[in-house]
Amino acid sequence: MECPLEWPEPVVPVQSLADAAVIPDRYVKPPSERPGDASKDASVDMIPIVDLGGLTGGAAEREATMREISGACKEWGFFQVVNHGVSPELMRRAREVWREFFHLPPEEKQVFANSPNTFEGYGSRLGIQKGASLDWGDYFFLHLRPESIKNQDKWPALPASLRKITEAYGTEVVKLCGVLMQVLSITLGLDESFLQKAFGEEEAGACMRVNYYPKCPQPDLTLGISSHSDPGGFTILLPDERVQGLQVRKGDAWVTVQSVPHAFIVNLGDQIQVLSNAIYKSVEHRVFVNAAEARISIALFYNPKGDLLVGPAPETVTPDRPPLYKPMTFDKYRLFIRKKGLCGKSQVESLIAM
Ligand code: OGA
Ligand code: NI
Repeated sequence: MECPLEWPEPVVPVQSLADAAVIPDRYVKPPSERPGDASKDASVDMIPIVDLGGLTGGAAEREATMREISGACKEWGFFQVVNHGVSPELMRRAREVWREFFHLPPEEKQVFANSPNTFEGYGSRLGIQKGASLDWGDYFFLHLRPESIKNQDKWPALPASLRKITEAYGTEVVKLCGVLMQVLSITLGLDESFLQKAFGEEEAGACMRVNYYPKCPQPDLTLGISSHSDPGGFTILLPDERVQGLQVRKGDAWVTVQSVPHAFIVNLGDQIQVLSNAIYKSVEHRVFVNAAEARISIALFYNPKGDLLVGPAPETVTPDRPPLYKPMTFDKYRLFIRKKGLCGKSQVESLIAM
């Protein structure tokens, strides 16, 4: 099962549509999927904020921090982290250099136009179905790990500092992923290196999707990203420092994430749901856009090595809790999403064994 080498129709950068008076029909969502009034659901609900400084404190503090993370994973599948060890200055530079990239003239970006074959590069859509509904966002997708897949020649050559900053940013955030992999292993009752081993250790994958959501003349009719769960292990998201847009599903409601300064937003993906036999679950999220300002975000996805079979960890399977999912490699799993585009949690649900 391969992906085709070309898109089924010409790809239009959303940035080129931002100044029109109305949005093309392809971007108009059915009424039930529209964002509604985002200010109205300014519910008091907030995803938890965890101070990771506690992990390097005494035993009691460390345990309390782990409990907070475990609680956040069970209740939300989403949390913000502060004191995470990545320098705020590096976070700021990464965001700024990528913002500059998206502000370059169209022909500079077009050089890196991607194809559905590998997705690496500059793009504006996911699924390959002709005539599919489209989201109001452009992106740049690249691989940071494993080293064997990383190819900096495929990263933007401009601005001149982009590759160096992206490399430094990736290294720091991947370190943070290592810490979270241990914490998640321990809180699931597994050996502390269990998840890292299941992901292939040094061969684990890390890729980045830099999202650019241009301002939109009719933000109430569309979404920057439709509802989806992330297919991989987990995601470390650097949000825009000023413009909000991320919403997380909680039951039947959508909760707008109010990001705090210098924090990352962490969310669990489908592979952690499978490995934990659904003790932890991936959570649907989406992005709304606005008429006043563009929004940028940098998502770093931490994933299992592509050719390893991923199934429920033996320790999470008991007589009362049989294995819920059939093992599958991440390479195979990810192909479904690349072909079909985003559709809520339908992909992980299709793995259900019974
Ligand atoms: C993603 C994503 C959220 C955001 O890239 O998978 O969910 O706020 N991004 O841009
Ligand atoms: Ni996502």
